[in-house]
Amino acid sequence: MPKLVIENLGGLSVEIQEGKTLLQNIQAAYVDWMHPCGGKGRCTGCKIQIVSGGEQLSPPSPQEQRFMTQGRLRSNERLACQCILTQGELRVLVPHECQLPHLHYHFKK
Ligand code: FES
Repeated sequence: MPKLVIENLGGLSVEIQEGKTLLQNIQAAYVDWMHPCGGKGRCTGCKIQIVSGGEQLSPPSPQEQRFMTQGRLRSNERLACQCILTQGELRVLVPHECQLPHLHYHFKK
């Protein structure tokens, strides 16, 4: 089963269910995640920064392509509400601007 590891949430690991977006899987694991537009690909609030495994993600959606063209998504960034992990392990960071105030972001010691 594919796996998402969120490095700056203490290395939290989320098992990935087939066909669901990263955001849907994160929410299914009861992890709070910023998603101001409700997962419609309109805001970039759910952004992830890829550490490794990005090549195993579904290709950028039209919404992501639009933000890339506008310079609002860098080459190592994706929208959690738009991409699907097909296999393997994906390691990510929550960018500073997408962190929630009530969560403690930290690296595993
Ligand atoms: S939740 Fe708004 S772009 Fe993903």
